[in-house]
Amino acid sequence: MPNPSLLILPGDGIGPEVMTEVRKVIDWFGTRRGLAFDVSEDLVGGAAYDAHGTPLTDATMEKAQSVDAVLLGAVGGPKYDALDFSVKPERGLLRLRKEMDLYANLRPAQCFDALADFSSLKKDVVAGLDIMIVRELTSGVYFGEPRGIITEGNERVGINTQRYTESEIARVARSAFELARKRGNKVCSMEKANVMESGVLWREVVQKIGDEEYPDVELSHMYADAGAMQLTRWPKQFDVIVTDNLFGDLLSDLAAMLTGSLGMLPSASLGAPMANGRPKALYEPVHGSAPDIAGQGKANPIACILSFAMALRYSFDRGAEADRLEGAVQSVLADGLRTADLMGPDGGSPVSTSEMGDAIVAALETSLN
Ligand code: IPM
Ligand code: MG
Repeated sequence: MPNPSLLILPGDGIGPEVMTEVRKVIDWFGTRRGLAFDVSEDLVGGAAYDAHGTPLTDATMEKAQSVDAVLLGAVGGPKYDALDFSVKPERGLLRLRKEMDLYANLRPAQCFDALADFSSLKKDVVAGLDIMIVRELTSGVYFGEPRGIITEGNERVGINTQRYTESEIARVARSAFELARKRGNKVCSMEKANVMESGVLWREVVQKIGDEEYPDVELSHMYADAGAMQLTRWPKQFDVIVTDNLFGDLLSDLAAMLTGSLGMLPSASLGAPMANGRPKALYEPVHGSAPDIAGQGKANPIACILSFAMALRYSFDRGAEADRLEGAVQSVLADGLRTADLMGPDGGSPVSTSEMGDAIVAALETSLN
């Protein structure tokens, strides 16, 4: 059997420096666990624009379609703000999601014990928090037509369209129900059925899939605004949340911050199974490119490292090795290691991006004893 293939797209800002740490972890699994990957690397986002005048070349797109999993760093930065919309760094990421048809975006929000004090919420509200947001990723207002800026009379009008088909709703609902069965067996679906027809359809379809295919899973519905409120009031009431593309974008940032640091959270974007049975998949940290701290060794590599753990779990069926990597992260945090983003108001001395990566590799090594 050939080695599984991984395409690494470091991207912009802190993307390359956090990815350097992930490579150390990948190499460790190759040499110490006999889990070798065929790794290739390419450009995405602003980096691809600088080299090729496009945030994602067709050649890179083809490569992404042919590998077992893609691991992405981050895209974007102020340098590219003035670019035409069609070549902005974000378009590279959106093209990958759309053409690979990665419709289910899994965004866990987990509170690490060692960081519970870090949340802006009270410790008892967040300690032990473990929820999973399943965000629809390839449709909705992000992609709906018509869109654009048109002129009507003497003023301009900005237009985007929220649009969902029944099958788009059904497939992401199934992803959420399947995940819930492996977790707390609860799904809460969020939309705005009180104002939007697409929300009415969303609620109907999720309820039908629940009734017919997952009667064992507890299903509830919430308006997305109330959901945001409940997430800050008592987040532990949730297990799996399923929601659309735009609400999922907002709610997942909110949920991430509950846990204390955006720098800690990974994500998986999954599509339909390929011929080898593995889902089409792209893994990336939830945080962005953080251009303000790029190149200074301040970035936290944990979100990207945990994204590789998700790849081990969801693409490569190596749940035990994913547990090992997550355990290594827990143990360095328990030892008190902190990157700059995890420094409290009282200060302390942070470790650098590469020191954090090295410590995680050392903890992996210890896990073998
Ligand atoms: C995210 C980001 C992206 C999105 C941007 C970079 C296009 O905010 O992954 O949440 O809006 O989906
Ligand atoms: Mg976002």
